[in-house]
Amino acid sequence: MNRLDVIQALMTQKGLKNYLEIGVENGHIFFRIKSRFKVAVDPKFIFDASRRFGKALLNPYNLTNQYFEKTSDDFFAQDAKQVFAGKKLQLALIDGMHEYQFALRDVENTLRYMDDDGVIIMHDCNPQTPGAAGRFEDWETGEWNGDVWRTIIHLRSQRPDLNVFVLDCDQGLGVVTRKKETIPAALPDEAVALTPEQIQNLTYDDLKANRHAWLNLRNETYLYDYFGLRP
Ligand SMILES: C[S@@+](CC[C@H](N)C(=O)[O-])C[C@H]1O[C@@H](n2cnc3c(N)ncnc32)[C@H](O)[C@@H]1O
Repeated sequence: MNRLDVIQALMTQKGLKNYLEIGVENGHIFFRIKSRFKVAVDPKFIFDASRRFGKALLNPYNLTNQYFEKTSDDFFAQDAKQVFAGKKLQLALIDGMHEYQFALRDVENTLRYMDDDGVIIMHDCNPQTPGAAGRFEDWETGEWNGDVWRTIIHLRSQRPDLNVFVLDCDQGLGVVTRKKETIPAALPDEAVALTPEQIQNLTYDDLKANRHAWLNLRNETYLYDYFGLRP
């Protein structure tokens, strides 16, 4: 299972359509999504107008895409209010700058415009090596997931109004929903209570020793249980 499978299952079975992707790159995921309301945010799209046109021929839903070639912080400061004035967000893929505070701002800003039943998916939440799990400035070579895992621990520690878990697939797919009686957690979560300062000071070895509990790491099939979807 990968992020596209998760997004498509939620769109088709839960009817979540209004879509935001932060960090789009070449549009590998974005252009495949079937929704009439799709918003792309990235300071550097790796595609031009002719690729956009080609993608609209392949998937006509791409005709109504909205593109914002800027950082997510600038998008939320300058455009989001107007973009989401008439339509609340229902589904977001947060896959932009993979650092703790950046991803946290992306989640908090997205929640401001998100429907009560909306879902946020976060990519790269479960790094497997110290090199993959650090800040961008410390990254040397090989896989880089960044420290979005800290964002997950932060949300689980500081936001009791949210349900947060990570699916153990596709580099770790974080799933964030508002806590509601209509979607109780399918399994009880193990509580985490770390301060932002403690979270900032965690090491990869700390993550490794507490991975399951801190990330609320679940087998990918948990997606179906949690949302009541058909596999
Ligand atoms: C891993 S790629 C995204 C891949 C894409 N979501 C996919 O699934 O195919 C990360 C992207 O985040 C973008 N990015 C970096 N900093 C960003 C920021 N501050 N705001 C939004 N996007 C950012 C980069 O330009 C890059 O294209």
